[in-house]
Amino acid sequence: DFGSQYTQLIARRIREAHVYCEIVPYNADLSKFDNESVKGFILSGGPSSITEDDAPHLPSSFFDTDRPILGICYGMFLLAEQFGGRVEVSHTREFGSAQFSALDSPLFANINKLSTVWMSHGDSLQGMPEEFEIIGSSDSLKAAAIACESKKMYGLQFHPEVHHSDEGKKILENYLFNICKLKGDWTTETFIERSIKQIREQVGDGRVILGISGGVDSTVAAMLLTKAIGNKLEAVFVDNGLLRKDEFESVTKLLRELKINLHLVDRSEMFMSRLAGVDDPEKKRKIIGTTFIDVFEEESERLGVVDFLAQGTLYPDVIESVSFKGPSATIKSHHNVGGLKDKMKLTLVEPLRELFKDEVRELGRSLGLPDRFIGRHPFPGPGLAVRVLGEVTKERCDLLREVDYIFIEELHNFGIYNDIWQAFSVLLPIKAVGVMGDERTYEHVVALRAVTSVDGMTADWARIDPDILSHISNRIIRNVRGVNRVAYDISSKPPATIEWE
Ligand code: XMP
Repeated sequence: DFGSQYTQLIARRIREAHVYCEIVPYNADLSKFDNESVKGFILSGGPSSITEDDAPHLPSSFFDTDRPILGICYGMFLLAEQFGGRVEVSHTREFGSAQFSALDSPLFANINKLSTVWMSHGDSLQGMPEEFEIIGSSDSLKAAAIACESKKMYGLQFHPEVHHSDEGKKILENYLFNICKLKGDWTTETFIERSIKQIREQVGDGRVILGISGGVDSTVAAMLLTKAIGNKLEAVFVDNGLLRKDEFESVTKLLRELKINLHLVDRSEMFMSRLAGVDDPEKKRKIIGTTFIDVFEEESERLGVVDFLAQGTLYPDVIESVSFKGPSATIKSHHNVGGLKDKMKLTLVEPLRELFKDEVRELGRSLGLPDRFIGRHPFPGPGLAVRVLGEVTKERCDLLREVDYIFIEELHNFGIYNDIWQAFSVLLPIKAVGVMGDERTYEHVVALRAVTSVDGMTADWARIDPDILSHISNRIIRNVRGVNRVAYDISSKPPATIEWE
């Protein structure tokens, strides 16, 4: 990975072809690759110009490999430079769609010889590297694709991983199957088998504690661990009083059906009393985080010797933590039970750390999780505490639970729940004047938030039909005592965030 905005997309495309791959920063320890199971390399694009003095490079020894290398954009310039090619900053930056004409090459087997590709770069190849030849050109770039067949090295100046490159998927598949000779046998079933074996090897006779949040990730992790080690998994589900209406009960019922060794702990009063009088969002988040750790510690003491802490960490979290991008500012402190492992010297077990979110959903599906559960919108760890603005009390949470229940139920009724990435209600810390019958009212205001998004990093407000919104608003005001006004949040992220706190 040389820092391209498309690196994750390359990984996605490869995995969609049922080939396992990992993203590794360019400055990782190369001995990691002294492993027979590594069948080929892809060098990603990146924001740097290779002509800059501090441009990222790989050690020369990397290129002694007898395994195939595909360089994409910046990756192609690295290959070219390594073998004596000349790269210059282009006078005309080519950005966006271009017409590409492919010559004969195993990389371009069975594709249309004329196709649209996606370019995004500022450098261009002016002198060919030794033993390489041109295998494709675009309107303005003679050397838009190069290859050295004897070394099995290929370079593409365009981005095959981007949908706008019409033949991109086939080109990547040609690389994987024709050139790297991979099989494409990485499926959910093989993942489950491999993962069970790994968990058993790691855990041995030890016991594993796992916090259940009621979300898809921790549930799928629990299912996988149960398959691997049965009752040596101690799954702890804490009622913190901040879950949605009926959530604790319905998740419990499901987990019991899935035969997960479950411990239920009601600590809602403890959470509520610690939150009493606190209205600062960051303070709320910190209190909830430390309270979770305290409850967890209490529980594992009660359970006796526990050796491992399981977490539903996903691949994007792993990439974030190893990435060489500068540390980004903390917008909100996301809670997790990470602090626990250091405090109690537990070893981490992370069975989902190789997977993307939708791969976890697919895994859940083949492990037997019902569709309705898998398709649930994300729900934040601090729960309703960050949706009850101002002080968090049981009464205010109860009121919000009723409102939110109606909102979500109606989204299901109108068949639009699955078109929305996340929807929820927020209780505002103000009151508003209204009129009901002949009476003046002075009551609570709630906001409804529904967003469309791909990954939660950016989001736009969902364009729900005004008639549907009107129906929902009427039902809330008619049925939830104490609410006389409903607002719909029409801000996008950025500059707003999805949650209000
Ligand atoms: P924001 O509000 O930052 O949220 O735009 C982006 C996504 O993250 C969820 N979120 C959290 N998830 N613990 C979580 O597990 C948290 O503390 C947390 N805070 C926000 C939020 O619901 C949205 O999906």
